[in-house]
Amino acid sequence: MPDATRILPYSTDAIAEAADLIRNGLPVAVATETVYGLAADATNAGAVARIYEAKGRPGFNPLIVHVPDLASATEIGEFSTEAVDLAKQYWPGPLTLVVPLRLTSPIASLVTAGLPTIALRVPAHPAMQALLQEVGRPLAAPSANASGSISPTRAEHVLKSLGGRIPLIVDAGPTERGLESTIIAATGGPLRLLRRGPIEVAQAVEGHSDKIEAPGQLASHYAPSKPLRLNASEPLSDEFLIGFGQVAGDANLSESGDLVEAAARLFDLLHLADDSEQARIAVAPIPADGLGAAINDRLHRAATA
Ligand code: TXA
Ligand code: MG
Repeated sequence: MPDATRILPYSTDAIAEAADLIRNGLPVAVATETVYGLAADATNAGAVARIYEAKGRPGFNPLIVHVPDLASATEIGEFSTEAVDLAKQYWPGPLTLVVPLRLTSPIASLVTAGLPTIALRVPAHPAMQALLQEVGRPLAAPSANASGSISPTRAEHVLKSLGGRIPLIVDAGPTERGLESTIIAATGGPLRLLRRGPIEVAQAVEGHSDKIEAPGQLASHYAPSKPLRLNASEPLSDEFLIGFGQVAGDANLSESGDLVEAAARLFDLLHLADDSEQARIAVAPIPADGLGAAINDRLHRAATA
């Protein structure tokens, strides 16, 4: 990561520069109408891992993917009639829809934390819209703050929280809404409100915190169906070993011991192990520093699920 974070006022040049950085796999902070987002190419797992690295999140929460319009959204997710109606009513705007993920979607599995659903939003802000147009890829973007601190509504908030950890902030002044988007799940059955926000959707029922879609409910996120053993340097006969560094395994998170690469591959390899012939999964030791903390958190939850 760069040690100097630049702030550029929103302009065509600033967006061109931001798009270049994003194409090179780096996350960039940009204004939306709700809060500033930390945007990266949602189809590039390494780029998404760098979002988590910059935020210092202790775990992997599924992220919201931003797209320029409903047509782009329907290439990634499956929209029911009700979901289309909501999208037509509120997009572009501060509404996020959680819908089933298409099997053909190019989204990196780290974005959804391995879930079969995806959160999608068409933002109204011209800066984020311009960036989407310029990059031509869906952008994963959580709020642009370090884990555990409040969401940024000004470029200065982003700088205070993530200065030195990201290369660029596109400053478009204070955000209009100042509150994160409303999240509605349209994954079958009644529409469910998962997060309150600027938009009131009368027909949605309150989401239940024991449901897999509930924001922040990390314990209920994707876990493999097989028993999982941690800190394994040798596989038992019925185990699929997910390796790291020197511990080769049946598949390796990162042969060079790079935690960004390991985070990027984590959910793909958990799915691979789950789909393998072996009855159990073992995982090599992963160091606890940096992104390793988030990887270990996810593995602990999978091991005790
Ligand atoms: O206003 C906003 O929504 C801002 C701006 C930048 O667009 N973004 C934002 O993203 O708030 P983030 O990552 O901070 O919040 C994502 C929320 C989390 O609470 C997460 O649990 C939920 O969306 N979420 C994402 N994917 C989900 C899924 N597949 N199922 C259920 N919840 C999901
Ligand atoms: Mg947030």
